[in-house]
Amino acid sequence: MRISRIIATILLLPVLAALPAAAQQASDTLAPEQATGTATAGTVLAKDHMVAAANPLAAKAGAAVLARGGSAIDAMVAVQTVLGLVEPQSSGLGGGAFLVYYDAAAGRLTTLDGRETAPMEATPTLFLDETGQPLKFFDAVVGGRSVGTPGTVMLLQEAHKRYGKLPWKDLFAPAIGLADRGFEISPRLAALIAADAERLKTYDGARTYFFDAAGTPLAAGTVLKNPAYSETLKAIAEGGAAAFYSGPIAEAIVDTVRLAAKNPGVLSLADLANYRVRQRKAVCQTYRALEVCGMGPPSSGAVAIGQMLGMLENFDLKALGKDNAESWRLIGDAQRLAFSDRERYLADTDFVPAPIKGLLSKDYLEKRAALLDSDRALGAEAVTAGEPEWDHALLFGRDRSIELPSTSHVVIVDRDGNVVSLTTTIENGFGARLMTGGFLLNNELTDFSFETHDEGLPVANRVEPGKRPRSSMSPTIVLKDGKPLLAIGSPGGSQIIGYVAQALVAYVDWGMDVGQIVAMPHLVNRFGPYELEAGTAAETMAGPLKALGYEVKAGEMNSGLHAIEITADSLKGAADPRREGIAVGQ
Ligand code: GLY
Repeated sequence: MRISRIIATILLLPVLAALPAAAQQASDTLAPEQATGTATAGTVLAKDHMVAAANPLAAKAGAAVLARGGSAIDAMVAVQTVLGLVEPQSSGLGGGAFLVYYDAAAGRLTTLDGRETAPMEATPTLFLDETGQPLKFFDAVVGGRSVGTPGTVMLLQEAHKRYGKLPWKDLFAPAIGLADRGFEISPRLAALIAADAERLKTYDGARTYFFDAAGTPLAAGTVLKNPAYSETLKAIAEGGAAAFYSGPIAEAIVDTVRLAAKNPGVLSLADLANYRVRQRKAVCQTYRALEVCGMGPPSSGAVAIGQMLGMLENFDLKALGKDNAESWRLIGDAQRLAFSDRERYLADTDFVPAPIKGLLSKDYLEKRAALLDSDRALGAEAVTAGEPEWDHALLFGRDRSIELPSTSHVVIVDRDGNVVSLTTTIENGFGARLMTGGFLLNNELTDFSFETHDEGLPVANRVEPGKRPRSSMSPTIVLKDGKPLLAIGSPGGSQIIGYVAQALVAYVDWGMDVGQIVAMPHLVNRFGPYELEAGTAAETMAGPLKALGYEVKAGEMNSGLHAIEITADSLKGAADPRREGIAVGQ
């Protein structure tokens, strides 16, 4: 058993063992709108403001900003800069992020796209070897080739310019202080360093930071200082994002990427200088009486979740209940159909046309839902992309890009009712394993398809210069009567879509509260085999699902769901017990 699995199991078992009874009680008594003032174990209550994030130091830094009158966006800057220090394997200055934001004063939802871009020197064959074959995944990941232009710093600045209240400079103080004083390496970080040691030692920067002089992985509890990160943060605090996208920090990033021995990349100073955050309309889908809103392309998250919910709306999941294999047949096959559309149609819509409206239309989803009118799992031949209404005349091949679990999710609500749902990433755990300026660089470009064509058709998500790789990140805000009711999201590669969709069904149809929906055992079906969370009650579905015709496989399902429910007189938050995070508020 791997160390990370041991940690996950220790964290999970008490919660999951208690789950069926607690969940049953919740579904009998707690419709979401009745939940005010009550909470199950794992749910934290507050009245004024709240943060839920994957590390206590980061969550508390954000809560302190809120307590002194800062906005949700101010708190987000503090949380992200601390996460980049204490959870460096998941997100940071060297990565990208998507923000779904509710602006309470304007009563408006918007999204900011801080996704990495492919360098202008990158070509569609970036991840093919000299014989035209796709590289092995980690041969592509480790080194400079996979590094896209980071977007997180620009996203923080753009969000703060629009919605910040406290001075930009002040928001870096918590992370600078921790980097100077040092922080204790958490058990999770220590386990991940040890598990990744071989790859993480490839390049000097990460080797000298995460290992001692003898090459031993730093242990949990070791106090780790990061003076280089402190200097980088001070430069950004003083000079804004310009100090990151040009000058010595940018030059060091480019050198690190282009001079990476064995596997150099093509990122340039011009890529950094030209990087822009995009403001985009949220993609929303009604589900029962609610509106579920999230990040559109280049993320596939909101479209895939919207498709699943649009199909599931045609069935009475409430009556079927969470302990019924029939519910999971519908959820699993709705997800498989959504993934079939995703692999053919979804990519960066600044580069390729995608039928977003058609994919989310109720008519189309009713037709797709009709395929689920069965008493058996869909056969593999029936799980193909559909034909949504489409006024563009391009057809794409299927995309088989590999997306492994990674990433971090942050939710924040401030006293004015502004809401942040931020999913942030450097892609794979420890990204490209390249470190400069005290932070790790992303390997986001491996979220592109390695192959350029499929059966003669170009793949929509192929590499192109300046393009953003397709993501599964699903920062979500659920609206009721136009007002935010729930903010939620998760890390987890392409499993993110299943994690968030399942949590939404559990919340809406099964009346579970936020503590329960983030802890609930996972059942995810992306490509046919039903993935069940090992060591949890999800495994009890193995027999019934096999009887319905599924192949099942149990495995580690390392979500990191964070959620806050907003009711008239309280905030209820929860952090996924599989990770080290907390919800904290007042
Ligand atoms: N790299 C994780 C995602 O964007 O889905």
